[in-house]
Amino acid sequence: MEDSILVTGGAGFIGSNFILQWMASEHARILNLDKLTYAGNLNNLRAVEADPRYRFEQGDIVDRDFLRTLLRREHPRAIVHFAAESHVDRSIHGPDDFVRTNVNGTFSLLEEARAYWSALPEPERVSFRFLHVSTDEVYGSLGPDDAAFSENTPYAPNSPYSASKAASDHLVRAYHHTYGLPVLTTNCSNNYGPHQFPEKLIPLMILNACAGKALPVYGDGKNVRDWLYVEDHCRAIRTVLSLGRVGETYNIGGRSEKKNLEIVGAICGLLDELRPNDPAVPHRQLLTFVKDRAGHDRRYAMDARKIERELNWRPLETFESGIQKTVRWYLEHEDWVRDVTSGSYRQWIAKHYATER
Ligand code: NAD
Ligand code: DAU
Repeated sequence: MEDSILVTGGAGFIGSNFILQWMASEHARILNLDKLTYAGNLNNLRAVEADPRYRFEQGDIVDRDFLRTLLRREHPRAIVHFAAESHVDRSIHGPDDFVRTNVNGTFSLLEEARAYWSALPEPERVSFRFLHVSTDEVYGSLGPDDAAFSENTPYAPNSPYSASKAASDHLVRAYHHTYGLPVLTTNCSNNYGPHQFPEKLIPLMILNACAGKALPVYGDGKNVRDWLYVEDHCRAIRTVLSLGRVGETYNIGGRSEKKNLEIVGAICGLLDELRPNDPAVPHRQLLTFVKDRAGHDRRYAMDARKIERELNWRPLETFESGIQKTVRWYLEHEDWVRDVTSGSYRQWIAKHYATER
């Protein structure tokens, strides 16, 4: 039998970084199953598309017949589940897709994984893993002096996005508790880096600043997120997949809490050096306070001591080194940017930042 894993959502931001890292550092083959929503982009995977160890299959994780056939055919030793609707603002405008993919899709995947796993011969059944990629947002919002979220923090999701992720986490937990499915769950803080769709704070600010467009900061700009460079997250997932204790949850974070205004300031500072001829320099003059996000969580911070202690994982990138790499990546990949900022992207920006504000 060929050693292979199934990745869902591998054409998105974190999934594509994961696949590129995996192909450079592991032996097993990868099958990437992705629906290719607006957030999925096969250009992210150009570097591996000709590699015989990598294959892509377009499909929907809600579709159980499709999943069943795929699992039987591919015989993976693990499933790494990234596929999701991931943008909080979109979940506020229209939660349906979030419940469909994040809740129903995860349910379908769990059901088909359970049937597949139950029928495996003993040694393969013991070593099989279902790794569910989740978020710190399931824990709700922290006050300025609250301790960071630990694996024991009660769930308190506040947006349709985080509620749908929390529901999926609960299903994953239940499939272990009830059926013994060998699951692992990771809850990670805000990622940034190459391939992030420019609806999210960091790439949106980089691209708007270069174009001389307003930098729309929600509310007072003092909301805090704990930022982690995407490659550090991908390494953490690989570590949990190979060493994590079955049934356990691992929090992953960058020990890098920053206010949104600090993020925008850092990006503007870098662009002032790298792009002195942009339409608006200093770029900071483009900063514009706009109406706050509904139900906007004030602060997230992750206590990642469990994965650090048990699995010896630590971030390698500081925020300063990671943001430099990220800004440079966007400046050096104009074609990628042009591709993703056409059509439906423009409609989203127009609807979200103009009509409703
Ligand atoms: P993304 O939106 O960039 O990518 C999601 C991918 O899933 C896309 O390729 C999309 O086509 C695919 N997809 C969506 N619906 C699908 C369906 N029904 N069937 C198959 N594929 C489908 O998301 P991301 O930022 O890369 O996040 C990946 C995972 O990590 C998500 O589960 C998210 O909740 C989690 N996460 C993200 C962050 C972050 O900061 N981005 C932090 C922690 C956890
Ligand atoms: O914490 C992990 C989560 O991080 C992931 O689970 C989500 O998938 C991911 O999208 C991200 O959610 P956030 O809502 O924290 O990320 P976003 O980039 O949308 O926003 C970061 C902060 O910046 C947040 O406080 C809202 C603010 N913001 C965002 C945008 C898009 C602005 O002020 N202006 C903006 O235009």
